[in-house]
Amino acid sequence: MAGKILVTGGAGYIGSHTTLALLESGYNVIVLDNLCNSSIESLHRIETLCGKTPEFVQGDIRDRIMLDNLFASNHISAVLHFAGLKAVGESVNSPLEYYDNNVTGSITLCQAMARAEVYNLVFSSSATVYGEPTEMPIREDFPTGVPTNPYGRSKLMIEELLQDLAKSESRWSIALLRYFNPVGAHQSGMIGEAPNGHPNNLLPYVSQVAIGGLEQLSVFGANYPTQDGTGIRDYIHVQDLAEGHINALQNIVQRKGVDIWNLGTGTGYSVLEIIRAFEVVSGRKIPYKIVDRRPGDIAECWANPEKAELELNWKAKRGLSEMMSDIWRWQSNNPKGYD
Ligand code: NAD
Ligand code: UFG
Repeated sequence: MAGKILVTGGAGYIGSHTTLALLESGYNVIVLDNLCNSSIESLHRIETLCGKTPEFVQGDIRDRIMLDNLFASNHISAVLHFAGLKAVGESVNSPLEYYDNNVTGSITLCQAMARAEVYNLVFSSSATVYGEPTEMPIREDFPTGVPTNPYGRSKLMIEELLQDLAKSESRWSIALLRYFNPVGAHQSGMIGEAPNGHPNNLLPYVSQVAIGGLEQLSVFGANYPTQDGTGIRDYIHVQDLAEGHINALQNIVQRKGVDIWNLGTGTGYSVLEIIRAFEVVSGRKIPYKIVDRRPGDIAECWANPEKAELELNWKAKRGLSEMMSDIWRWQSNNPKGYD
């Protein structure tokens, strides 16, 4: 591709793995990140891994002037838009911050893109937009549901505003990628997920328990209508996810309009299956206790990933054991994340 790829949120968990995959595929990358939930160290490690450095701009996607300068001084051909806040519980307590950062941020970014006539956009959406589907696996043509929290609603709002945008101006080419549950780390153990403070998601919590940073895992409910009573999710390796973005990018530069793809594996695992798989690869016992359900959680959620395979020529390649061993390598090499 002739121009550079702008990666918003490129220092974060999924953005850093995608930035590495882009550099390794020969793209020139500019990372724009305000580092509110990440460390510049992830970019230094990317450089060590691939010998190439992404350009880095420390800034906020809500900063109009900075964005106009950025687009004016670089030939940017597409934007991969990861920047946003993602903690479900925090979004309930700070809804304005979440809508401002995620929705206003996306609007400001799209306005700057339109002013610069850059119309290729890949957006990080989430399976959360499906709400509580009545049928599994989930296909892209299932109706969107009613997300149970401001974070989920912000993702759905952005999807809808991007659909409206593509209808209003035919030059836009937009991919809405609905991620299922991203987990894992680069196989080198050098980049991975480094949550600030107390982890909210299952795997960061399990791996903290494994290294002794946290005492025991709370399993949120064992009375769901699933085979062992615990929640089922479609866990996808972050490297597979990163590769999916490159295929999506290649697709959108060849066509116009907006399209949606699930990025998942098509297989669901229960919380207890995850604990067992992690114990096997780490050789550590994960103490856990069953507690009440977490409000807003659904029983099960997994993707039908056929559309991405058919249209993007992309399929998740890495299995559960590889996901678990890559998290374990990352976590044991970096018990305090990037600190
Ligand atoms: P992350 O927090 O690791 O990465 C997000 C990055 O965006 C961080 O580096 C943060 O500093 C940056 N950022 C946040 N607000 C910004 C702003 N206003 N301006 C500039 N930079 C800003 O999260 P992640 O897990 O890598 O998620 C990336 C994207 O994928 C997010 O949009 C998230 O909602 C979406 N997503 C994540 C998951 C998941 O489980 N990790 C699932 C579905 C969708
Ligand atoms: N769980 C526990 N204990 C924990 C954490 C989680 O039992 O300490 C359980 C949950 O109840 C659920 C499963 O583990 O059954 C996975 O929970 P996560 O918090 O890891 O992930 P979610 O499926 O709740 O949500 C994630 C992201 C959302 C995103 C969604 C769909 O956090 O942002 O996947 O992509 F919207």
